[in-house]
Amino acid sequence: MRAIQPSEAQGVTSAPLLDVRDLRVTFDTPHGLVRAVGGVSWTLSPGETLGIIGESGSGKSVGLEAIMGLIKTPLGHVSGQEIFDGRDVLTMPEGDRRQLRGEKIAMIFQDAMSALNPSLTVGTQISEVYRLRRKCSHADAERKAIELMDRVKIPSPKARVGNYPHEFSGGMCQRVMIATALALNPQILIADEPTTALDVTVQRQIMTLLAELQREDGMALVLITHDLGLVAETVDRAMVMYAGRLVESAPVSALFEAPSHPYTRGLIQSMPRIDGASGKLHAIGGTPPPAAGRMPKGYSFHPRCEMRAERCGIDRPKLRSVAKNHAAACQLAEEIPHD
Ligand SMILES: Nc1ncnc2c1ncn2[C@@H]1O[C@H](COP(=O)(O)OP(=O)(O)OP(=O)(O)O)[C@@H](O)[C@H]1O
Ligand SMILES: [Mg+2]
Repeated sequence: MRAIQPSEAQGVTSAPLLDVRDLRVTFDTPHGLVRAVGGVSWTLSPGETLGIIGESGSGKSVGLEAIMGLIKTPLGHVSGQEIFDGRDVLTMPEGDRRQLRGEKIAMIFQDAMSALNPSLTVGTQISEVYRLRRKCSHADAERKAIELMDRVKIPSPKARVGNYPHEFSGGMCQRVMIATALALNPQILIADEPTTALDVTVQRQIMTLLAELQREDGMALVLITHDLGLVAETVDRAMVMYAGRLVESAPVSALFEAPSHPYTRGLIQSMPRIDGASGKLHAIGGTPPPAAGRMPKGYSFHPRCEMRAERCGIDRPKLRSVAKNHAAACQLAEEIPHD
């Protein structure tokens, strides 16, 4: 088996919209250096929906925050490349970087209620960046806010544009966040667990809305979630993270039908099935390694892996092709039968 380039693993034939290469994020902390993301490469195609899954602390949010320029220096350090439109965003001048991240790449977060400013009206929050960037009047900005509220299906937008966040439900606050992110027509929307804080019916409404907006605008969507059901239903391709690294990447059907990495298998087997076909739910034994301090010798997952071989305690495997557009970082990937 040979090690491969991320774009090759993901079956990307044309130039990707975003090409992330060897992204690393560390933090200096009183307990030592935290290696939150340890060299992750991936690409995103125009209009694609990419899902990112993995246990808590695996580096999903930090990796995307680095892409959005949200890692605070001097304690946080980011390295690698983030190629958008032929330029490396990580090394471009700060002004260009800020401009690009607001205009072309936008992000929404899990807890909309706390992400919104309680002392500003929702209309002001939705249109503020638009007003500043487009240098338009307050009246035009308000018209834009109403138009965006309508797009994200907030009822009676004209009457509600002057409301404050506390007058909105959690689901409506998340719609306000989505409207804010859409204001400048981004090409990429990053959504970090956008529905986790919401009840199940509202979760579905928000995901339906995101899918609709994506279809209309041809936007690419990167979705971080713990909800494997949501991944199975909504994404084109999924990436699995473990301890700051990518362990598997595949079209979503291949990931669920023929997971290659033992960690992905464990995650999928821990997912309840409505038809009871999976029988007893599986739990992955042990806990992820701490990001600060010592990683286990060899491959970070091997102490928890039911299939580990001796060499897993010595080497860390590279991401390898295991099937078309499907890559996994496991020494034994080829030897695991795809049942
Ligand atoms: N500002 C920070 N300083 C120090 N360590 C941090 C900081 N931010 C994140 N980390 C650490 O980086 C690691 C990755 O965190 P991250 O938030 O990306 O996890 P995650 O995969 O998004 O988890 P979750 O599913 O719980 O949201 C964790 O060990 C976390 O404690
Ligand atoms: Mg997170």
